[in-house]
Amino acid sequence: MNLKLRVWRQTGPTSRGRMATYDVTDISPDASFLEMLDVLNERLILEGEEPIAFDHDCREGICGMCGMMINGVAHGPSRATTTCQLHMRHFKDGETIDVEPWRAAAFPVVKDLVVDRGAFDSIIQAGGYISAPTGAAPDAHATPVPKADADAAFEAATCIGCGACVAACPNGSAMLFTAAKVGHLGLLPQGQPERDTRVVGMLAAHDEAGFGGCTNAGECTTVCPKGIPLTLIGRLNSDYRKAVTKRG
Ligand code: SF4
Ligand code: FES
Repeated sequence: MNLKLRVWRQTGPTSRGRMATYDVTDISPDASFLEMLDVLNERLILEGEEPIAFDHDCREGICGMCGMMINGVAHGPSRATTTCQLHMRHFKDGETIDVEPWRAAAFPVVKDLVVDRGAFDSIIQAGGYISAPTGAAPDAHATPVPKADADAAFEAATCIGCGACVAACPNGSAMLFTAAKVGHLGLLPQGQPERDTRVVGMLAAHDEAGFGGCTNAGECTTVCPKGIPLTLIGRLNSDYRKAVTKRG
């Protein structure tokens, strides 16, 4: 495949960015999007140019490191797919593809396609833990969990913290991410001691980090590579209301 890429290039957090155009040739339709960028970067290095900076790690869709806007869509055109798992066969030969970093106030650009997602860490630090001693795996099996709760907690736990939900949200809100983390622990018996402080603390950290509020646009769930459902945001709101009511 031969493609034209228009890629956001920005040398540092405070420098002015711009779209740069590159022709990429002889790309296998079975290459992943990141492998296609690798091919371009190898050529840029050979030509003495600065390679395009982008985040990645597992390249298996499980770590949450990769992520970029591809033709204006977080993680690109395939539903429930991370950028590293997106293959070039989903594009047309000769196509022009725009590649940009996540655009959100709470995710400042570090360089090119790399953004600082440290704001997610501050949300996790505010409540993404439990204090109950859980012991080893056999001890965990001694605590019965209803199947429906276990399934719902597991679904919430599949959030990989990629940030696509924030990039897609017109408000730059991280409510889907926060709801997944609150729901994951709040659905299990081991997560009950901190249930109230968790939801209050994580939402305060969310707002402090500069994320916007949720207005039920629903864009987040459509781009989420793990299909985290909007119902978790409803559950978060319910938990929050109960927690603040208890506190008076
Ligand atoms: S909720 Fe989905 S889109 Fe948002 S960080 Fe988690 S996995 Fe990524
Ligand atoms: S590189 Fe790990 S999810 Fe894409």
